[in-house]
Amino acid sequence: MTGARHDYLRPGSLEEALRLAADSSRTRFVGGGTDVYVQFCARPERPDAVISLRSIAELVGIEAGDTFRIGAMTTVQDIADDEDVRSSLPALARAAGVLGTPQIRNVATIGGNLCNASPCADLPPPLLAYGARAEIRSPGASREIALEALFVEPGRTSLAPGELLAAVLVDRPAPGTRAIYQRQGRVSVDLSLASAAVAIGLDGRTCTAARIAAGAVAPTPVRLRAAEAVLVGSTLDKETIARARAAAVAAVQPITDVRAGADYRRHLIGVFVARALDRILAGECDAARLPHRVPAPPTAPAPSRGDALRGPRRVAFALNAHAVEVDVAPGARLVDVLRDQLGRTGTKEGCGHGECGACTVIVDGRAVNACLYPAVEVGGRVVTTIEGLEGPENGLSTLQRAFVDGGGIQCGFCTPGMILSAKALLDGDPEPPRDRIARALSGNLCRCTGYVQIIESIQHAASRAAGDVR
Ligand SMILES: Cc1cc2nc3c(=O)[nH]c(=O)nc-3n(C[C@H](O)[C@H](O)[C@H](O)COP(=O)(O)OP(=O)(O)OC[C@H]3O[C@@H](n4cnc5c(N)ncnc54)[C@H](O)[C@@H]3O)c2cc1C
Ligand code: FES
Ligand code: FES
Repeated sequence: MTGARHDYLRPGSLEEALRLAADSSRTRFVGGGTDVYVQFCARPERPDAVISLRSIAELVGIEAGDTFRIGAMTTVQDIADDEDVRSSLPALARAAGVLGTPQIRNVATIGGNLCNASPCADLPPPLLAYGARAEIRSPGASREIALEALFVEPGRTSLAPGELLAAVLVDRPAPGTRAIYQRQGRVSVDLSLASAAVAIGLDGRTCTAARIAAGAVAPTPVRLRAAEAVLVGSTLDKETIARARAAAVAAVQPITDVRAGADYRRHLIGVFVARALDRILAGECDAARLPHRVPAPPTAPAPSRGDALRGPRRVAFALNAHAVEVDVAPGARLVDVLRDQLGRTGTKEGCGHGECGACTVIVDGRAVNACLYPAVEVGGRVVTTIEGLEGPENGLSTLQRAFVDGGGIQCGFCTPGMILSAKALLDGDPEPPRDRIARALSGNLCRCTGYVQIIESIQHAASRAAGDVR
């Protein structure tokens, strides 16, 4: 996503987005952009314009009644943190909580995760296991399909040109339903090598309902119906679990690629299905093992910011507590505008793909990757870069001073991003235990592997600041 090689349209309503898409075949919808902009880095072909869905309020949020309606632009982090989702759809909350890095979860959307149609995406397996449906909109029309029917092949959905995914619908599971999501990546923030979600209805020990879905073991996320058939009507015991495991392993068709072999992926599916059923038999489900909620302001589109202008535009926002205005090219990245136009060179660019965290800044209280964030989207928002931290410790904030004193500062490239991820954590969670600090830093790579001092510095800052880290 560099420079002005595509136009950037920001409709303020669903109708306007659909009309813009109907006007030209060379447009592309974009949600959080964490797949789209990485693809733009890898491939030379671009659309004439992207149609950003970020300013469309009706696409954001979770309505919960007998059916959950999750707007397509709801962020992955907001799903992971939603109390009702956590208690009623815990396997979905778990998948959302382990997807990518904190910076990615803060902008990535459920709509993008599904419409990217990656077989290894994290949200499809639990959604298939909960029997989710897709609400699809086109100009003047709306239709609903089983979510399974959305996926056609890697990178391709069944959406017709000009259609968009408006929401995901999930009926509230019947009382007694237990669901578990498991995945395996090479490292904790990696895409899954294989994943599986299991949702079971039990009457005593008799299995009354079963849905099992798997990821990264076929061209699309898939239901494992043969394994479900073994379970429904059977007593859930060791013998039934062994038969369900064998049926699941026989049903998948994984490939071997650079990330894992087909045999290993097949083996993982057997382990996931058997382990989930063992745990369900023991009375467990994912509700008991969800990642800690991240206290932060809910993500919402700023009001009345939609526009369908083409070309550069003037963007006004608060940068480090000062009002700034800057002319921004369509498609310009926040990291470039901060560094090249506003001279805030403390924000670094490492990978340019959302993987290293060197470009981390805080937007409206949340850590994001400035290399994947469209500069035009900070209009009306509050942005903090490393230059915005200051305090009583010889001009340094308590957090910065703790990094200096504790050996947390190791190189100038990673440190600003590390400190901003830590600040975003401590602002909402002033005294986090070690595991929550490590999780908050999981999107910040240190190639010299000095995490021990970095984590200790944050612990030290937390204890010194006693809830007032600046
Ligand atoms: C460093 C990194 C780590 C990642 N780790 C993971 C991971 O662990 N697990 C995982 O599942 N994914 C991961 N991803 C992939 C990505 O973050 C997710 O797929 C994310 O949910 C995509 O959402 P988005 O809003 O950013 O999508 P976008 O990039 O905005 O869009 C993705 C696709 O969906 C289309 N689209 C978006 N919204 C709609 C809509 N409402 N209607 C129709 N089409 C639409 C776009 O045109 C595009 O084709 C990772 C990405 C990065 C960069
Ligand atoms: S994550 Fe943005 S530069 Fe690496
Ligand atoms: S802090 Fe930069 S490589 Fe370790």
